[in-house]
Amino acid sequence: MYELNIKLPDKKYDIFIQKGIINNIGEEIKKIYKNKKIFVITDSNVNRIYGEQLKKNLANSGFEVYFVVVEAGEKSKSISVLEYVYNQLLENGITRGDVIVTFGGGVVGDLGGFVASTLLRGIKFIQIPTSLLSQIDSSIGGKVAVNLPIGKNLVGSFYHPEVVYIDPELLKTLEKRFLYDGMAEVIKYGCIRDKQLLEKLLLYESEEELFKNIEEVIYKCCDIKRAIVEEDEKDTGIRMILNFGHTIGHAIERYFDYEKYTHGEAVAMGMYHITQKSESLNETEKGTANIIKDVLIKYNLSYELPDMKKEKILEAINLDKKSNADSISIVLLDNIGNGYLKKIKREEIFDYI
Ligand SMILES: NC(=O)c1ccc[n+]([C@@H]2O[C@H](COP(=O)([O-])OP(=O)(O)OC[C@H]3O[C@@H](n4cnc5c(N)ncnc54)[C@H](O)[C@@H]3O)[C@@H](O)[C@H]2O)c1
Repeated sequence: MYELNIKLPDKKYDIFIQKGIINNIGEEIKKIYKNKKIFVITDSNVNRIYGEQLKKNLANSGFEVYFVVVEAGEKSKSISVLEYVYNQLLENGITRGDVIVTFGGGVVGDLGGFVASTLLRGIKFIQIPTSLLSQIDSSIGGKVAVNLPIGKNLVGSFYHPEVVYIDPELLKTLEKRFLYDGMAEVIKYGCIRDKQLLEKLLLYESEEELFKNIEEVIYKCCDIKRAIVEEDEKDTGIRMILNFGHTIGHAIERYFDYEKYTHGEAVAMGMYHITQKSESLNETEKGTANIIKDVLIKYNLSYELPDMKKEKILEAINLDKKSNADSISIVLLDNIGNGYLKKIKREEIFDYI
């Protein structure tokens, strides 16, 4: 079992990473939660595969369990689904002393976490992330949100779980596309903070070998995010380094209406492209972009930008809520393992596209 402890000024919590931890989850939760009722928020896919198993396990540990199931997919991170979840929970008698468990990928974690942060002015919650992306990224750091028609994650808050339980065995049922999607973020962590991690990813000879080492891989990613979040919980400085590849990545996602590429696929192209450019501007050690290219290919991710007009990319970047008036922060690499933030004038982004 790998363990991490996140220490923030107003909150401390543990992250447990262990294959098979889901089979003992009721007893694990009992250690930190003494009341009877548990409200599980999950999605239709995860519920179909693991719902009964989780229900039984929690009931065997003496909990009274209620499930709220939303449709799988990003569309569920909406105000209307939010209202549906609030109503379901209230109709089943939730009180402030109960606990919410979010059991699913980033969509369920973000939606359920936002429900927990707002319903009855805040209810404790536990994250059990089930996709790779949620296990290494979205379940840690306290960002919870839903989308509005004009943009993603525009209604949200910072609200941390009581504990995060990560079971990498759950990844065995994840569709391959979502596995690779999560690998893009694993690669990102290696690029910005951990050369050794990236080297290991390059050495694994098969998916089986990756899975053999997956606990350690997840632990390393979570540990990097832990350190960054501890330094800058509210995302006003160094936390932006987690956006490596995201400026161009977000633009690609938006350009294709979030339909053609997953987030990870877009970030993968963004990481390679910006590094190729910064290398040509002598801001990054030569050869870095090629290493990124090799590792992306290995995990079935594209590296070359799709056909897009430069002006349109800039337009998409300008719509990004994270960029303010006339400057934006971009993330560049000195070399593999060493990322840094650079503030540039908005129009200078052309140099990096
Ligand atoms: N809060 C944060 O800090 C943060 C960070 C990054 C991303 N996000 C958010 O995360 C979301 C994306 O998360 P995601 O990629 O996990 O998407 P997701 O939650 O939609 O999950 C992807 C797909 O995998 C399925 N799935 C999940 N676990 C499974 C399992 N074990 N077996 C089989 N199927 C499984 C889901 O049903 C879904 O169809 C986005 O909304 C993004 O904005 C949040």
